[in-house]
Amino acid sequence: MDPISSNGPALPERAEIAGLVDLVTREALAYLDSLDSLPVRSPRSEEAAHSFDSPLPDIGGGASQALQELIQGGMDAALSSSGPRFFHFVMGGSTPAALGADWLATVIDQVAYAWVSSPLAVKLEIVSLNWLKDLLSLPAGWSGVMTTGATMANFVGLAAARQWWGHRHGVDVAQQGLQGLPQVPVFSSGYVHASAVKVLGMLGIGRAAIRILSHDAAGRLDVPALDRALQELDGAPAILIGNAGEVNAGDFDPIATLADLAEEHGAWLHVDGAFGLFARATPLADHLAHGVERADSVTVDGHKWLNVPYDCGFAFVGQQSLLAEAFAYTAAYLPGPEDPRPNMGAIGPESSRRARSLSVWSTLRAYGRTGYREMIERHLALAQRMARLVDEAPELERLAEVPLNIVCFRVNPGSHSEGELDRLNNRLGEALLEDGRVYAGTTDFEGKVALRPAIANWRTREEDIDMFIRIVRELAADLVSAD
Ligand SMILES: Cc1ncc(COP(=O)(O)O)c(C=O)c1O
Repeated sequence: MDPISSNGPALPERAEIAGLVDLVTREALAYLDSLDSLPVRSPRSEEAAHSFDSPLPDIGGGASQALQELIQGGMDAALSSSGPRFFHFVMGGSTPAALGADWLATVIDQVAYAWVSSPLAVKLEIVSLNWLKDLLSLPAGWSGVMTTGATMANFVGLAAARQWWGHRHGVDVAQQGLQGLPQVPVFSSGYVHASAVKVLGMLGIGRAAIRILSHDAAGRLDVPALDRALQELDGAPAILIGNAGEVNAGDFDPIATLADLAEEHGAWLHVDGAFGLFARATPLADHLAHGVERADSVTVDGHKWLNVPYDCGFAFVGQQSLLAEAFAYTAAYLPGPEDPRPNMGAIGPESSRRARSLSVWSTLRAYGRTGYREMIERHLALAQRMARLVDEAPELERLAEVPLNIVCFRVNPGSHSEGELDRLNNRLGEALLEDGRVYAGTTDFEGKVALRPAIANWRTREEDIDMFIRIVRELAADLVSAD
């Protein structure tokens, strides 16, 4: 018997496509219909993930079989992280407009490298970045580029900063490297995100270059200490990393003060506003991120509060020439600097790039400034509702103010030592993930183990918040009574 006809085609066939699109569409509709009520994690998730352990087949089983296997095992192994009760990390969902456009981006498989590879993807990237600057009140003249997320947006912003710093020492760092130069002075508060520190390593500046200046256990910026440190540099250039929205409690560095210091001492100000920059989309919270418009570079995420599918982030930099130097990229077969048409691959780290712009453009086109303002305001209200429920529960203790969308709290039945409380809250964090109906992670807040649910999904409603607190209390009661 012919092994190919018995086991399916060895190579793709055009005739497969209609059936597959139909299969995935039906599956997608069923999934999206049930997403509001699905647990975050199926009890079968581990087993389902391991069901994929198998050797490379000699002869493929055909597309229909592959997709059916993927759906059968995959839907259980996947987390409903785009659903309304996923409060771990800071993760958004996908708005319908973003989801549809992202699906289309896969169908037409555009490469957002340069105009020559896709006028559509590049034009929509430029238009969407302009719309985002408008939404977030950033200077219209800033340059921007889409990235995989905030880590790579921090990379872009800090690469521009490194280039600027090199110039201040008479060196084109992108060209010549950092050898022979002093260590780059980098300052931040304890709010700095781990990804920015990682990026310092990636850029050859070094993770150890950063000096964290904070005056308390939460990590709040020590402004006088920063002022002194900059004075001691005596005019030598430095990089400041400001944090607009830190991950423990959603707090902000005083960005306007950082901008004043940067101006006074001639430093570069990079602001990581992965999710916090969206505070600027509403008058209820824009005071938190005052002064970002005076920064030199800014990081924003798309897959967090913009609610576009993974992966998507944005880097904004005031001086486009620094990006062009840091990421200059050409070859005989590629468009060169003389080509007047946009070339995103030559102002950012990636060459071949997914057309993230389709989903960003589509969601901004669909919901506009007002839709986003209302979504952010709804999330702010939901965070306050969660804070209230925490405050009303005698065995829950809120550890921080709730300026934005993160509620930092712990279980504290009143009878435990600090060490016992840490153990209890760690076990509660594990129990939440094991239970799987809702998801949130733990952190260390001022030396205390705490939960830090973050609200950033357009689907989340009051009942999801209430259910989260109900489940936390239920699991905590079980743990305390089992002690
Ligand atoms: C403030 C901040 N910066 C950077 C990052 C890294 O973002 P990404 O995972 O999109 O690379 C995050 C992610 O949680 C963040 O909250």
